[in-house]
Amino acid sequence: MTTPVLPAPPLLAGGRGPLSALTLQVIGAGRRGTGAHEELLRLAAARAADRGPVLEDDDVQLTLFLLYGLHYGWLGDLGDDLEWDLELLQVRQLLEGLHEAELRELAGTVPVPEPTARSVAQALFDLTAADDGPSLARYVARRATTEQALELLALRSIYTLREADAHSWAIPRLTGRAKAALVEIQADEYGSGHPGSMHSVLFATTMRGVGLDDTYPAYLDHAPAVVLASHNTMSLLGLHHRLRGAVVGHLAAFEMTSSIPNRYYRDGFARLGYGEEVTRYFAEHVEADAVHEQIAAHDLAGALAEQDRSLVPDIMLGAAMSLALDGFVGRHVLTAWEDGRSSLRRPLTAGPV
Ligand SMILES: [Fe+2]
Ligand SMILES: [Fe+2]
Repeated sequence: MTTPVLPAPPLLAGGRGPLSALTLQVIGAGRRGTGAHEELLRLAAARAADRGPVLEDDDVQLTLFLLYGLHYGWLGDLGDDLEWDLELLQVRQLLEGLHEAELRELAGTVPVPEPTARSVAQALFDLTAADDGPSLARYVARRATTEQALELLALRSIYTLREADAHSWAIPRLTGRAKAALVEIQADEYGSGHPGSMHSVLFATTMRGVGLDDTYPAYLDHAPAVVLASHNTMSLLGLHHRLRGAVVGHLAAFEMTSSIPNRYYRDGFARLGYGEEVTRYFAEHVEADAVHEQIAAHDLAGALAEQDRSLVPDIMLGAAMSLALDGFVGRHVLTAWEDGRSSLRRPLTAGPV
């Protein structure tokens, strides 16, 4: 097994504000920090007391992303020493409180169906069908320039190079039919025993095929707060047993809004002249997610509702959170593109950090 490559020094050097700068410093120093942990905790407590919005706050979202990164393993040996550091866990908890509160507000009021598999699946399909968020996928199919299409891949790489990992945190938190259904979906995401078919690997091939760097997280510095917020939300939901209903609803909505957009993405990259090597990731999802959405709606979310009716509101809430964040990211990107700007914090053409 290979050790994850440590982030390049510039990643560890550049924060987006006091919290993330100090977090990077703490991670860089490992256990040998000199009071920086306590200072970070003090800063986080002050930020939590301030209660301002965080979903578009670069400093907070990068900090959360780095703290979750300790659990995913991409920080390599640096993360190993700090994964269960008490102060860092406290910092995470403080920021998560702000993040979750704003997310619940953003998701709004959700319908709460009867606790039967049929009703919950139908309510999820109704919710996703009613979603009128902006369609990045349609834009890519018809109008995106090559540079914009590459921006999209860079943005998506934050999640997709680690595809499925965030929802996998939920596996040990479920039981019975719901657990079996989640594992069935995730097995497919992880290539059904074939490493080359893992969706993250297919996406890495797409990135290399267009000339982008597929190491993780090469485009972290390019990714705006809303993209990090989207990934942080999955990590938040997946890593808390009390939120297991929400992570299931999130995954269901994620799968239900994937098949058709991926057809548009495939068409868009084909329109721009890219071949099968680049479009395979998207083509694979046209097929796979048409199946996954059925399993997710009926066998995962529906079964979970029948196992524990008290989770129905959270299942719907998780779905609403997924749709709301998708809309948030979509609006961010399309507004930038319509204005003739890059949707990234700095354009890809600016070269390496
Ligand atoms: Fe996938
Ligand atoms: Fe899927």
